[in-house]
Amino acid sequence: MRIGVVPGDGKGPEVIVEALRVLDAAAARFDLTLEYEHFDLGGERYLRTGEVLPDDVAESLANVDAIMFGAVGHPDVAPGILERGIILRLRRQLDQYINLRPVKLYPGVASPLAGKDHRDIDFVVVRENTEGLYVGAGGFAHRGTRHEVATEESVNTRFGVERTIRFAFEVAAGRKRKHITLCGKTNVLVHAHDLWMRVFEEVGSDYNGVECAYANVDAVCAWMVQSPERFDVIVTDNMFGDIITDLGAAIQGGLGIAAGANLNPDGVSMFEPIGGTAPDVAGTGKINPLAAIGAAGMLLTHTGQTAAGAAVETAVATVAGALPSLAAGAMGMSTSEVGDRVCELVTR
Ligand code: IPM
Ligand code: MN
Repeated sequence: MRIGVVPGDGKGPEVIVEALRVLDAAAARFDLTLEYEHFDLGGERYLRTGEVLPDDVAESLANVDAIMFGAVGHPDVAPGILERGIILRLRRQLDQYINLRPVKLYPGVASPLAGKDHRDIDFVVVRENTEGLYVGAGGFAHRGTRHEVATEESVNTRFGVERTIRFAFEVAAGRKRKHITLCGKTNVLVHAHDLWMRVFEEVGSDYNGVECAYANVDAVCAWMVQSPERFDVIVTDNMFGDIITDLGAAIQGGLGIAAGANLNPDGVSMFEPIGGTAPDVAGTGKINPLAAIGAAGMLLTHTGQTAAGAAVETAVATVAGALPSLAAGAMGMSTSEVGDRVCELVTR
């Protein structure tokens, strides 16, 4: 398997190193051959050469079997240039139309939610990943004047909504509880989320064994805090998915543990820790690499190496449960020591 590696900026490179060590440990144990091709993308390259994502790099990344992605964003680069030019462009260009984000509180990990433990927080968010408010539709008129108008349009195609919802039902059908919640805002977004609701009902009629629920996004936020045990699979649009998955990361112990997958089930998928570059703690050797390692586990699972993926996930869960905290600087060990622990467990 050929894996394209984009360490990127900030904490990206240091957590990717650990993720690759764990992939190597899994490869040794499960007899896989993994080849890595590194790509230099991110703030340093942009500042050096003015290039964000050269076409030949995009082309090369379209021809690997999977991508391990760290993080991009740089203090000296205007916000959005790298994020839109690299992450969002890759998601769209590679048609990674699903962003799959498990929200799982591992046994032994403290949640900031009082009285909740691993029995209460175990769901997965299926986020539409190429449309909605992320398409960049809209514009300015009279920019910089008192009459300025700025619009930002949410684009929702039936095709995009349907494939996302269908994917989410498949995920739900494969889980123990078989429960799915559509997260929208039908009381206000009367066009886009009317479409989401109709497609949800339509696709749902093909899945008799899956129990369906609907909740507005604001209520979803409250329930994720008050009663996260309600949720099994949540399907939602791009923007709401972005927001609720950071909340999800917080209730599962923080961005240090939260992994995600940008999936094109028929093409090249990309796996990443969902947190950003963490410039304040990058380079200290105290970052938690478990999110990136978890993403590596998802890479194995979604490329068909399910036993190896499960071994990595189990190891991540065990190490996470044994750490005093999942926060950078509070783990009681260094980034590479956490990587060592996971490697030991995966190798065993
Ligand atoms: C994420 C990130 C990205 C997003 C940013 C960096 C463009 O927040 O993966 O959730 O908004 O999708
Ligand atoms: Mn986000």
